[in-house]
Parts: sequence; structure tokens; C-alpha cells
Amino acid sequence: SFLKTEKDPVRVLVTGAAGQIGYAIVPMIARGVMLGLDQPVILHLLDIEPAAEALNGVKMELIDAAFPLLKGVVATTDVVEACKDVNIAIMVGGFPRKEGMERKDVMSKNVSIYKAQAAALEQHAAADCKVLVVANPANTNALVLKEFAPSIPEKNITCLTRLDHNRALGQILERLNAHVSDVKNVIIWGNHSSTQYPDVNHATVTTSSGGKLVRELVADDNWLNTDFIATVQQRGAAIIKARKLSSALSAASAACDHIRDWVLGTPKGTWVSMGVYSDGSYGIQPGLIYSFPVTCEKGQWSIVQGLKIDEFSRKKMDATANELIEEKSLAYSCLN
Ligand code: NAD
Ligand code: LMR
Repeated sequence: SFLKTEKDPVRVLVTGAAGQIGYAIVPMIARGVMLGLDQPVILHLLDIEPAAEALNGVKMELIDAAFPLLKGVVATTDVVEACKDVNIAIMVGGFPRKEGMERKDVMSKNVSIYKAQAAALEQHAAADCKVLVVANPANTNALVLKEFAPSIPEKNITCLTRLDHNRALGQILERLNAHVSDVKNVIIWGNHSSTQYPDVNHATVTTSSGGKLVRELVADDNWLNTDFIATVQQRGAAIIKARKLSSALSAASAACDHIRDWVLGTPKGTWVSMGVYSDGSYGIQPGLIYSFPVTCEKGQWSIVQGLKIDEFSRKKMDATANELIEEKSLAYSCLN
């Protein structure tokens, strides 16, 4: 009617929706945390047959929560029905690691899921669907999805390293007793694994006397080059040790941050970290999904160019690239 001012709903797929991250993220999406308080959504929830009843329970709770922005819920174990016309796909489905495992230890179980779901997304999702892979090994699952869905533009397939980015911010905030809005431009380079390189060389803090480099204010290069890096690299394992379950609320929140910034844009002068298809920037071999600093505008990300890379950083950026090259060949050996 002429009174209609509401935007058309966006269809958001969450796979693995009966799991931990699924349970944390669906209310965030339905409350507008991901796409904005004026954006209605239709949730598509996918899980597998053994979780069908639990998935239906999640749907019941979404109905009971009476979210004003939620215009519909499709809860299904049929991957084709789940992918139909979705504009955004949050790929959480898979198996998490347990204490003592590395993320690549869940490789053989998870990459085959991504190969299978690539085809369904390619054939049934909206043509411009934006894909975020969360399930581990996240970068390599995203690469498998990309390779088995050749008609999805490579710019539309990403993986989550925003959690690592936020963890790096968190460590700096604790150290400086600063507020999250005052610290920006940390970088996560590479793999969402223990070889990732959290880099603070370009990060700044807003102070009463203007912007200062994090390195200057922390004034402890030894901490920044050792314990800080190790803490961020090992944070996923530390959460598993403490909770006996892998991170969920922080992962869900980071996934919302990733999509929000991708769709609605990054604030001026600020970059974020996203796992994206490498174009050879910073000497990283093309054909890997690698985490870079990116800015986003009008629904497109671009890698921040021209940052000065010192020798310490170069070694760490290459080490995590090398792990991704190994993971890629391991993934292919699992698929064959
Ligand atoms: P979970 O076990 O609680 O939930 C996973 C869900 O996926 C389960 O309900 C399971 O039935 C479902 N599933 C399995 N195979 C599926 C398939 N083929 N299609 C659809 N659904 C399927 O796990 P979780 O704690 O929610 O974690 C999910 C994944 O996210 C794990 O791989 C975990 O390691 C990863 N993770 C990544 C990050 C990151 O920052 N990238 C952070 C946290 C967790
Ligand atoms: C995380 O970083 O918390 C997740 O990737 C879960 C894990 O296995 O570490």
C-alpha cells in the first residue's frame, strides 16, 4: 500500500543452525544486529537429520520471541530448500574441534560438506549471494566452496577472521585500559589457525592529544612480539579448555560484524580483517583464502594497499600462507 515504507526482507541462511553458534547468532540476526534495525529478515535454518528436532525447537523459540524484524523462518534438513533465493549465507555447519586438536584435524569431516553445499548454493541462492564460512578449517572450507561453485563470483566468498581481529583488539584494550571505539586498524593476516599473524604495526589509539600508534602507547615491543601474538593465536584453544566447548557468542557476534561491515560499509579511516580470495596483494600467492585488512563500500570489500611490511611481519605472513598451501593439498587429498 502507499503506507508501506518497510524494506523488502533479506533472506539469511544459517547452516548448522541447531548448534551452539547457530543458537547464538539467530536472535542477533532477527534483532537487526547483522543488517540494521530497519532491515526485515527471513531466516533459513539448515541442519542435518539427527538434529532435526532440535532445529525445530530453535524455530519454535524464534516464533516465541516475536521479533518485529523477523518475517519468516524456514527450518529444514533439505539443503536445496535451505539455499533457495538466499541473499546471505552464514556457513556454520560442521564439526568443531575438541581439546588438544588443531582446527585442521576436523578437515576430512568438514571439507566434504563444503564441496556438497557449494553446488546447492550455486544453483539455488540469489545471484549476488554473499557467503561467509565460519566452520573450521574456515579458510580452506571457503576455498573448497569457491572451487566447487565456480559460477559464484570469488569476491562473494569469504571466511571469518573477524573473531581473531576482535580478540586482538580485546587484548590491546585490556592492556591500555582503553575503550573499543578508541582502538582501530589491527590486522589478522592469513589463516584462522594458530599460525595467524595478529599485526599491530599500523594500529592506532585515539587519545585526548590525538591519534597515537598502539606500539608507542603500549611501549613494550617484547610483549607485542611474543605474548600478545601467542594469546590471540591460542585464544580459541583457551576458550575450549575453559568451556569444554568452542567459542560461540563471540563467534556469532564477529560473524554479524563481518556481514554488517561488508554490506553497510566500514567507517572512514577504519579497516577490518576478512578472509578473502587472494589476488597476489602483499606477495601472497593468488588462489588462497587469506585474511587481509579490508575496507568495504557499497557491498564490496577491497584489500588495503601500500602498508609497509617489515621483516618480522614478512616471515609471519609467509608462514601462515605456507600452512594454507599445505591445507589446500590436504583438503584435496581428503576429497579424492
Ligand atoms: P556445533 O557442533 O555446536 O554445531 C554445528 C552444527 O552443524 C550441528 O548442529 C551439526 O548437526 C551441524 N551440521 C553438521 N553437518 C552439517 C551439514 N552437512 N549441514 C548442515 N549442518 C550440519 O558447533 P559450533 O560450536 O556451532 O561450531 C560450528 C563450527 O564453527 C565448527 O567447525 C567450529 O570449529 C567453527 N568455529 C569457527 C570460528 C571462527 O572464528 N571461524 C569460531 C568458532 C567456531
Ligand atoms: C575459535 O577460534 O574459537 C574457533 O575457531 C574454535 C576453535 O576451534 O578454536
